[in-house]
Amino acid sequence: MSRIFINYRRQDSEGYVGRLYDRLLQYFSKDDLFIDVDSIPPGMDFVTALDEAVSACDVFIAVIGAHWLTITDEQGERRLDQWNDFVRVEIASAIKQNKLIIPVLVAGGKMPPPAKLPEDIQAFARRNAVELSHQRFSYDVERLVEVIRSASPARASRNAANAEMIEAKAEALKGIRDDLVGATESPLYAYRIANRHFPVLGDGNPDARLIFIGEAPGKTEVEQGKPFCGPSGDVLAEMLKSIGLRREDVYMTNLLLDKPPEKRDPLPEEIAFYKPFVDRIIHTIQPSVIITLGRFATEYLLKKLDLPEKREKISQLHGKLIKTRLDYGEIHVVPLYHPAVVLYSASQKVTLQRDFEKLKLFI
Ligand code: URA
Repeated sequence: MSRIFINYRRQDSEGYVGRLYDRLLQYFSKDDLFIDVDSIPPGMDFVTALDEAVSACDVFIAVIGAHWLTITDEQGERRLDQWNDFVRVEIASAIKQNKLIIPVLVAGGKMPPPAKLPEDIQAFARRNAVELSHQRFSYDVERLVEVIRSASPARASRNAANAEMIEAKAEALKGIRDDLVGATESPLYAYRIANRHFPVLGDGNPDARLIFIGEAPGKTEVEQGKPFCGPSGDVLAEMLKSIGLRREDVYMTNLLLDKPPEKRDPLPEEIAFYKPFVDRIIHTIQPSVIITLGRFATEYLLKKLDLPEKREKISQLHGKLIKTRLDYGEIHVVPLYHPAVVLYSASQKVTLQRDFEKLKLFI
């Protein structure tokens, strides 16, 4: 997750920054957005305090409105020329610390020419800017979010450092699949073999931040050996796309890893049999967010974690972000309705879509 510092001048762009901040909250958590450094302890050097605040961030956004360059104080002196101007001190700090700096142009703001900037921030003029127009605000913010995500130094280094670990996770998942293939004691094994079905372990990114747990594979899934590739999968794919995710960005699995006969609900003994497999998948991937689709997967996870919400129904729980811990760290559990609800009741699509929007916080 990127931590973002927002640098701006109140008199120049406050309204736009408020709007931008609200929009960014749909993609990043409040704790990851630093907007006003207003609690500098008495006696502390404010330049050091601002340096520390900037250093805690991966990405530095400098919002530039029409008057950014020229605003003056009561004495008529240009703010940018003053040594203690917060905007200037923060930008100079971001340059010095080699942060990713993204100028964001709003309300007719333009990139300043270097010659018009104090020396310590002249390098700022060379940064490529993103423009947020009034008419295309949502679209432009989405572009900005993409830039932040793809360019975040934290993410890039995390990816490089993790290459070996991802390989190890993929290997471990293969091992779980081998055990599943040979799980002759499963209550669904005979049915699998008699019908020449594949078992369905899961599919997607072995290092996913988000893992989706459905109920059980259906007919199409066991013919292809892949979860969510039938009609429910189409709904899931549409929802993922709407929040800018692809199938290969996440990991998908189910509570049962073989298809039960007919279209019946999972039986307690079937859930009991496959639970250790699902636990192993979770502990291998170590996701930050586990999205349970429908009541069976939700009940399994809330009981496993012994959360107070385990007594609530999916109709009360859907769309909640439940913060908790697993042995590898902090996670969020997000129960959602199963995508199949949309196939039976089109009106539920709006609810599912609204709940999916909340996942943007974790992407
Ligand atoms: N397909 C799956 O893989 N899981 C479900 O829960 C439903 C359809």
